[in-house]
Amino acid sequence: MTSSIDNTAAAAAKARENVIIFDTTMRDGEQSPGASMSLDEKLELAKILEEMGVDVIEAGFPIASNGDFEAVREIAKIVKTSTIAGLCRAHQVDIDRCAEALKPAARGRIHVVIATSDLHMKHKLQMEPEQVLETITRSVAHARNLRDDVEWSAEDATRSDRQFLRRAVEAAIRAGATTINLPDTVGYTYPSEYADLFGWMTQNVEGADRVIFSTHCHNDLGLAVANSLAGVQGGARQVECAINGLGERAGNAALEEIVMALKVRADRLPFQTRIDSTHITRASRYVSAITGFAVQYNKAIVGKNAFAHESGIHQDGMLKNRETYEIMTPESVGQAPSTLVMGKHSGSHAFRAKLKDLGYELGQNALKEAFGRFKDLADRKKHVYDDDIIALVDDALARGGERIRVTHLRVIAGTEGQSADLTLEIDGIEKKATSTGDGPVDAVFNAIREIVPHEAALRLFQVHAVTEGTDAQAQVSVRLEEDGRIATGQAADTDTMTASAKAYVNALNNLMARKQKSAPEPLVAGQF
Ligand code: KIV
Ligand code: ZN
Repeated sequence: MTSSIDNTAAAAAKARENVIIFDTTMRDGEQSPGASMSLDEKLELAKILEEMGVDVIEAGFPIASNGDFEAVREIAKIVKTSTIAGLCRAHQVDIDRCAEALKPAARGRIHVVIATSDLHMKHKLQMEPEQVLETITRSVAHARNLRDDVEWSAEDATRSDRQFLRRAVEAAIRAGATTINLPDTVGYTYPSEYADLFGWMTQNVEGADRVIFSTHCHNDLGLAVANSLAGVQGGARQVECAINGLGERAGNAALEEIVMALKVRADRLPFQTRIDSTHITRASRYVSAITGFAVQYNKAIVGKNAFAHESGIHQDGMLKNRETYEIMTPESVGQAPSTLVMGKHSGSHAFRAKLKDLGYELGQNALKEAFGRFKDLADRKKHVYDDDIIALVDDALARGGERIRVTHLRVIAGTEGQSADLTLEIDGIEKKATSTGDGPVDAVFNAIREIVPHEAALRLFQVHAVTEGTDAQAQVSVRLEEDGRIATGQAADTDTMTASAKAYVNALNNLMARKQKSAPEPLVAGQF
C-alpha cells in the first residue's frame, strides 16, 4: 500500500512536467519589417540559443528565399542538441524544400501550417472546409514520410470554429503530426478563452494524448505572454516565443518573459524549462544589435531599467533586503553586478571580464577589435560606462563582414552652410565625394548616395545618447527601404556625424545582402 505522503510526492513529481521552449526569433521574428539578419548573424544566434537550452529553434521558412533555405541548412549542420524546425505551407513543394534544408539536422522538425478560420479559408485560401481537411491529411502525411518530427499549425486557430478545429486537429494527428500548434495569429484571444481552448482540445480530440499541444501568441493586445501561460495552464506543453518579443506586427510572446514567469512563479505553474536563464541578457542584446531594434528601457526582464531602483524609498528597502523590491535577481538573467570600473588604463583581461559580466563572449579576433575600439574611446571620453561598452560591442557586431566601410569623414556645419567630405572603401577600393545638404546629416547622406547611387528611401533616422554628458556616444539607427525590402543599420560613436554615416552604410550593406537572396517563389510575409 502506498502512503498518502508517497502519493503526494508522486503527484508533485508528475505535475512538475517540462514545457518545451520553441524559439521563432529567426522565422516569425525576422518577418517583422526591418528585422533582417544575415546568415552569419543567424548562425551566431543559433549557437546562443542552443547554449541557452532552447528545445526547438525555428530557423526559417525554406521555400521563402534561398537565404532562408541556406540559413536552415547551415544551422542544421552546426546545432546538435536543439531541434531545428523549418516552416512550410501545406504544399508538397514547400515540404520537400523544407525537408531538403533539414537534411543535415541531428534533430529536425517539419512545421506545416494552414489556416482553419472561416475568414482565412474563404478569403485567403479560397478553399472549402472539406478541402482544407483533405489538404491537412495529405500534407502532414507527406511531411511524416520525410521526418518523424512533424508539427502542424492551425493558423488563426483562436478565430476558428471549435468543432471544425477539432476535426482539423484530429486529421493532423491521424496523418502523423507529433505537435499540434494552435496559434493566436492575430493576437485576439484572452487568457481564460485560450486556457479553455487547450483544456477542451486535450479533453475532446481523439488522439490528444499522443501529441504535444503548443501555444503561439501574437501581442496585438499586449496579451501574448499572459495568453501563452494560460495556454500552458490549459494543457499546452510547448510555448512558441521570440527573444525580445520580436515578431509580426506587435510581435510574439517574449521568450525571456515566459521563461522567467515560469521560473519565478513555479508555485502557480509548476513546469520546468531547460533554459539556463543566465544566458537571457546576452541573447537579448545580440538580437537587438543585429536587428537594430532597440529594447525599450522599461521592458520586462531585459530592459535597461528592469533592475534599476531610482526612488529613495526603494533604494533604502533594497539596501536592507533586496527582496523588498526584487522578485528575481539581475544575476538570474545574466546581468552580473558591475564591479569593474573601466578606464584608459584597463587591460585586455579586465576588458574581457567586463564583457563577460555584460553577457558577451567574443571570439579572439572580435575581442581584439573591440578592445582596440575601447582604448580609442577611453582616450576620448573621461568615463567609460557599461552602456558605452555595450554600444561599442553592438556596433562592432553590426559591422561584421561589411562590403562598404566608412574610412574618412570631415563635416563642416554652422550658419554658413553644411558640407561633407567622405571616403568609403568598397570591396577594398577607396571612393571619395564632397556634398552639401540641408543640414550636416543630409550632407553626409548625400555624399554616400553620390558614391553608392541607389534608390532606397530613408524610412527612419534615430539618434540617442548612450549615456549622459556632452561626451556621450551617439547611437544612430537608420532604416532603408527599396522595392519592399527593408534593412536596418546601427552605429555608435562620440561623433554624431560619424555614427550617422556608419549607420547608413551599415543599412546599405544589409540591404545589399538582402537583395542577393532571390526568392524562387515570391511570398508575402505572413501569407501561408
Ligand atoms: O502566427 C501564426 O499563425 C504563425 C504560424 C506560422 C505558426 O506564425
Ligand atoms: Zn506567428
